[in-house]
Amino acid sequence: MQLNDRRISVGLVGLGRLGRHHAENLAFRIPHCTLTAVCSVKEEEVTAAKRELGVPYGYTEYEEMLKNKELDAIFIASPSGFHCKQIEQALAAGFHVFSEKPLGLYIEEALQVQEVVQRHSDQVFMLGFMRRYDRSYAYAKRQIEAGSIGEPVLVRCYGLDPAQAMPSFLQFAKNNYSGGLFLDMAIHDLDLARWYLGAEAQAVWAIGGSHRYPELDQLQDAETGAALVQFEGKKMGIFVAGRNCVHGYHIETEIIGTHGSLRIGTNPEKNQVTLMDERGVIRECTNGFLERFEQAYLDEVIEFIRCIRENRKPEVTVDDGVYSTILGYACKQSFETGQLVTVQSVSPAKV
Ligand SMILES: NC(=O)c1ccc[n+]([C@@H]2O[C@H](COP(=O)([O-])OP(=O)(O)OC[C@H]3O[C@@H](n4cnc5c(N)ncnc54)[C@H](O)[C@@H]3O)[C@@H](O)[C@H]2O)c1
Repeated sequence: MQLNDRRISVGLVGLGRLGRHHAENLAFRIPHCTLTAVCSVKEEEVTAAKRELGVPYGYTEYEEMLKNKELDAIFIASPSGFHCKQIEQALAAGFHVFSEKPLGLYIEEALQVQEVVQRHSDQVFMLGFMRRYDRSYAYAKRQIEAGSIGEPVLVRCYGLDPAQAMPSFLQFAKNNYSGGLFLDMAIHDLDLARWYLGAEAQAVWAIGGSHRYPELDQLQDAETGAALVQFEGKKMGIFVAGRNCVHGYHIETEIIGTHGSLRIGTNPEKNQVTLMDERGVIRECTNGFLERFEQAYLDEVIEFIRCIRENRKPEVTVDDGVYSTILGYACKQSFETGQLVTVQSVSPAKV
């Protein structure tokens, strides 16, 4: 078959908040891709996806989906605690794999997956750090590479989920262990800081608290947290993460360099509309990750499918998953113990 005719047949696991959105993209919006199978432990989600998205095969058991010989790739959007095992199973069964972030919730499992990916180097593996595919974040990276701000030395990030999403998050957190604020939310920013600074983390001090929703204390999580990270070469990271942002979904990043700085999303505006009425001059805020990163969720998957068709590797690697999990876990340890934590150093995979 000519490359241009080749369609990649995908089986997706996890049909929740994000998985269902990915399923719609895979079914209708990604070129050269067919969503052939879906899997969820909730049968009603499988039935709905089959009916509404025209998917021929549905499963409530992941292992059964892996027996489907029509599939080329597995797309993992299940809760974070399942990622490592499901990645290993899919690679062992011969599939290309896309997994949502984080790679894993524990360092040991992330290192184990790194080895498995290394062993299956002829298969494509990609991790869902979609912010790297957001046009503004990608533009900032190109500016840094072009030397526009000199040497990047400090990254400051805000990653704040809307307060209105708190009830659904509390439900999610009770049923699925997310790894906590730093591994679940700040992980995108931790990855971006590594990417922009071109350096790995060495030490972290993290703090946090739950003031409006003390229920989060019982889940050993924090409503709002902050981490101060020392990177190699005396570079620095300041990360604020939270789940109680009353004005909406606020994702903001600043990169300070020796000869300038870049800011992304300083005012997290929904669009270019300004409303003027008796309340004043109003710019609405984005209301969640699906709205803010709509384009990035599409472009990362377009890239995954292209990599399979063109027999090449994506820029986001298993190493990015390992390093970010190690750093996220160090933040979590520091938050829990109140101590400065040294970040474990690891070798990159030889893939
Ligand atoms: N990249 C991002 O910006 C981003 C945003 C949100 C979520 N995520 C990640 O996506 C993943 C899913 O998050 P979500 O918010 O959609 O979760 P969710 O709880 O809404 O959905 C989880 C889905 O997985 C299914 N499921 C649970 N256990 C399963 C199993 N053992 N086998 C098969 N299916 C199973 C559930 O039935 C549900 O369909 C998480 O790892 C999360 O960290 C990433």
